[in-house]
Amino acid sequence: MKSAELARRRHAAVAPAAYSVHPFYPERAEGSYVWDADGKRYLDWSVGIAVMNVGHSHPKVLDAVHRSSSAFQHLCFAVGMHESYIEVAEALARIAPGPSPKKTFLVNSGAEAVENAVKIARVATGRQGIVAFTHAFHGRTHMALSLTGKAHPYKAGFAPRAAEIYRAAYPYVYRNPFGLTDEDAVADAYLAQLKDLVKTTIGESEVAAFLLEPVAGEGGFIPVPERYLRGLRAYADQIGALWIDDEVQAGMGRTGHWWAVDAFGLEPDLVCTAKALSSGFPLSAVVGKADVMDTVKPGMLGSTFGGNPTGCAAALATIGVIEDEGLLERARTIGVVATERLRDLQRRVPGLGDVRGPGAMIGLEFVRDDAKTPDPQTVESIVAHAREDGLILLPTGTYGNVIRLLPPIRMSDAELEEGLTKLEAAIVAATEGTLAVA
Ligand SMILES: Cc1ncc(COP(=O)(O)O)c(C=O)c1O
Repeated sequence: MKSAELARRRHAAVAPAAYSVHPFYPERAEGSYVWDADGKRYLDWSVGIAVMNVGHSHPKVLDAVHRSSSAFQHLCFAVGMHESYIEVAEALARIAPGPSPKKTFLVNSGAEAVENAVKIARVATGRQGIVAFTHAFHGRTHMALSLTGKAHPYKAGFAPRAAEIYRAAYPYVYRNPFGLTDEDAVADAYLAQLKDLVKTTIGESEVAAFLLEPVAGEGGFIPVPERYLRGLRAYADQIGALWIDDEVQAGMGRTGHWWAVDAFGLEPDLVCTAKALSSGFPLSAVVGKADVMDTVKPGMLGSTFGGNPTGCAAALATIGVIEDEGLLERARTIGVVATERLRDLQRRVPGLGDVRGPGAMIGLEFVRDDAKTPDPQTVESIVAHAREDGLILLPTGTYGNVIRLLPPIRMSDAELEEGLTKLEAAIVAATEGTLAVA
């Protein structure tokens, strides 16, 4: 078996810190499917962790990449200004949330986008404090890991962390400590806590920005209640701070809108995007209100590969595919169909504590008991059963007890049906003995 040989070579040559969830060796991918080195086919509901939203090997993306790379591979925007960088900035200004004029700065990865958003916020406000949240993931570079909430495996061992970062409680409705069930009441309670934290431990005039994922990705696919986001927007305005919206995982159509905050008609000051922006070709962006972006002087930001022409070509094609093929609407439909099926299953599986998330960004949280004790073992077992059956899933969550569904948003009805059937079978197989009588 080729996979066994690759496993041997990998263990000999690759740093063990570069961890893979699945012991599989993908060799080829097309549309919603991936084939491994031994020829086994899998339906891919991980899409490279929320990257291949438009499916693998979309012909329009590949064509754009081929045309761009045969014209030139690299010049560096800091040397000369290629048109595709400008075109991506124009496209992002068009689709960015809110009516204010926008400007864009391009880099390579999600972490870099977040780092640069923080730099921009500090220059624009002349302040230093960044309020990040529990359950947050913003990447693994030094500033990004300092902003990330989870100790293991992201932060522990890498101290000292960056300064002037404060941690507020992420509004986690399912696990809120207030004993509340009404979403608006939960949002109000978390907002009151946030304001108290800012007033008593940071000082309102010291806050440069609030940095928040609208749906916590690595934290467990936890959507922020609308009322909390509205409250955060108003509070940031009141104290002269900015709101940085990290849409690296939730953006680019995943939730059924270009950006998760679009569902509520809200306008952040800075938006970070990466992952699905360029369908697997490294590119990320900070898109900000023009008056904020204009505060940073020429040369203060930069990157050799940032805004590389191949990534830009892929991003322009990806945006075109999402628009031309109506994929925002498709993501909403996928969300409705999948959520209905999974809520039905939830009635029969006591350990399936919560089914949540907007559009095609669905989290399934597994618990052991009424006290909501996290159950990562069941999640591990579901992921293994599904893989055996040819469905690639990803676990997530601060406690490792959430399955995150990241299907391609270009999936057909038949592929959706196939995935849901395999997912249900894996959940049933992993929770056998705990099933409630229907
Ligand atoms: C919300 C969020 N921000 C930032 C990042 C970091 O992105 P990258 O891995 O491209 O640095 C991620 C990656 O998962 C993410 O989900």
